[in-house]
Parts: sequence; structure tokens; C-alpha cells
Amino acid sequence: MTAPPPGRALITGAGGQVGLTLQERMPDGWAVTACRADELDVTQADRVRAVLRRERPTVVIHTAAYTAVDAAEASAERAEAVNALGTAHVAEAAREVGARLLHVSTDFVFDGASGRPYAPDDRPNPLGVYGRTKLVAEQEAARILGDRALIVRTAWVYSRHGRNFVLTMLRLMRERDEVGVVSDQIGTPTWARSLADTLWTAAGRPELHGVLHWTDAGAASWYDFAVAVQEEALAIGLLDRPVPIRPIRTEEYPTAARRPAHSVLDKSSTWATLGGPVRHWRQSLRLMLRELAVGRA
Ligand SMILES: NC(=O)c1ccc[n+]([C@@H]2O[C@H](COP(=O)([O-])OP(=O)(O)OC[C@H]3O[C@@H](n4cnc5c(N)ncnc54)[C@H](OP(=O)(O)O)[C@@H]3O)[C@@H](O)[C@H]2O)c1
Repeated sequence: MTAPPPGRALITGAGGQVGLTLQERMPDGWAVTACRADELDVTQADRVRAVLRRERPTVVIHTAAYTAVDAAEASAERAEAVNALGTAHVAEAAREVGARLLHVSTDFVFDGASGRPYAPDDRPNPLGVYGRTKLVAEQEAARILGDRALIVRTAWVYSRHGRNFVLTMLRLMRERDEVGVVSDQIGTPTWARSLADTLWTAAGRPELHGVLHWTDAGAASWYDFAVAVQEEALAIGLLDRPVPIRPIRTEEYPTAARRPAHSVLDKSSTWATLGGPVRHWRQSLRLMLRELAVGRA
């Protein structure tokens, strides 16, 4: 006789980098429905309800979001519709079918002014539209589902999929003779795989609720991160020549959205709760780049 499955999971935003990585890392026993944006548009309340009624998940892992941080400043309505309203739709449908919600959120709910790692119960104060709409999303998830909602805040996510800092740096380092990278914003680079594994662990722990912080371990500036990308990529032949990397200040790289200067997340309570391997961000980066190199060979 086989053991009963841990449950049925439904993934929103399944075509995004976290959504795709969740599918790659699906543990044995889960039945999974992965819904891309064209299959499940979270701004459509009726559609969300219909899909959840049909699929009857025990847990929804909600990764769908409007993630273009700068574009959100000029498209606040759309960011609001996807992030805030969309999450409310998912939470309401989850409540109706009795599912838990794992909601993926962001370090951008903080202003980054405290200069020390943020604990889950520190006061949020988003600097831009993206962070503000993601904070409303958290509040809606908690309001609608109470202790059936678990909010997992993460940061600086990269993977071999989609658009992210690592893939952008590799491209720029191939195309340009010099790269300038911001050195006065500090956070924690996080491999989507570390996050996906944590989300699956949390999905199997129905007693968890509230807010968890999860990133890889350690801290870096974007500049440090870029230097590490180049060193690791050169070592395994993903890049064939070094280019100078120039540290620049935030003012020298104007963007539509303001970003937190120091948004390291304090993971101590998550590590105590979930256990499991804690990887330094640079180890994760090395593993990811090795896989990228194998994929290109
Ligand atoms: N990336 C980071 O550094 C980072 C950091 C902290 C937190 N997060 C959070 O982590 C989660 C996953 O992020 P990610 O890096 O995987 O972002 P991503 O690659 O941009 O994926 C987001 C996915 O959401 C989909 N989406 C957009 N509008 C939608 C809608 N109306 N209905 C359904 N799906 C929709 C997108 O589809 P289309 O591409 O077709 O629009 C995309 O596939 C998000 O909640 C994000 O806020 C990310």
C-alpha cells in the first residue's frame, strides 16, 4: 500500500522563475497543478474561483505577481490589480475550498533604513508601488485566511529562468568592456531553488502561519554580487574574459522606483522552525552557475 500524498498543491504564476523552480523541485507525493498567467489570471476573481473549485488544492503556492519594480511606478493600477486584488481573489477562493495559502512576498515591504536585518514582525514601510502593493497583498492574505495564510518574504531571487541579475550580468559582461554596478544597496542574493525547497517544506507543515523570512545566508551589495558572478563564471568557462566592474552609487544609476538601502532579512526564526540546510549565497551562486554551464555544454 502506498502512503497518502502530502496533498494537492496549486501554483500560481507557474511560468515565472519561482513558479518554474517549484515545479522542478516538486517533492514526491504531491499532486500539483501549475497555472501560468494565461491559464489563471489572478485579476479575474471568477476565473480564480472556478479553477480552485475544479482543482480543490489543499495548498495554494501563490507566486504570481507584477514584479517589474520600476515599471510599477507608472503602472500603479496594474500592479495594484495583480498584487493586491489578485492576492485577495486567490485568498478568497482558497478560503472557499478550505486550502492554505503560501504567499510569496518581498524585502521591498521595508524601507531599508534600519541598517540591521529585518525580523518578520518589524514595521514595514515600502518605498515604492511594488512594495506597497505587495504589502497590501500580505495584509489581504492574512485578513481573509487568518492562520491558513503563511507569508514567505524573500529577496534578490535569481535562477536560470526569466529575467534576473545573474543572467543580466552574464550578458552585460559578454557584451561590454566595463560594467558599473550599485555598491550601496545591501541585501541577500537568493537562488530560486533554495526558496522553492523552503516553500515545499512549508507546504508540508500545515501548522505554519504568519510571516517567515527566507533568503540564502549572508549579505552583499549588488556590486559584490556582480564581482562574484564574474569570478565564478570565469572559473568554469561561462565567461571567457574578465571586464572591469566599477562600483557606483545609487544616485549614479537613477531608477523610477526607490529601493531599500539595506534589506537583509533576519532568518533566525525560520531556521529554528524549519531546520534544513542553510547555504551561503555564494555557494548557491556557484551551484547555479555550474548547472548553467552544464546546460550550455
Ligand atoms: N525576483 C525577485 O527578486 C523577488 C524578490 C522578492 C520577492 N519576489 C516575489 O516572488 C514571487 C515570484 O517572483 P519571480 O521572481 O518568480 O517573478 P516572475 O519571474 O516575474 O514571475 C511572476 C509570474 O507572475 C505572472 N503574472 C503576472 N501577472 C499575472 C496575473 N495577472 N495573473 C497570473 N499570473 C501573473 C507572470 O506572468 P507573465 O510573465 O506572463 O506576466 C510571471 O510568470 C513574486 O510574488 C515576487 O513578488 C521576487
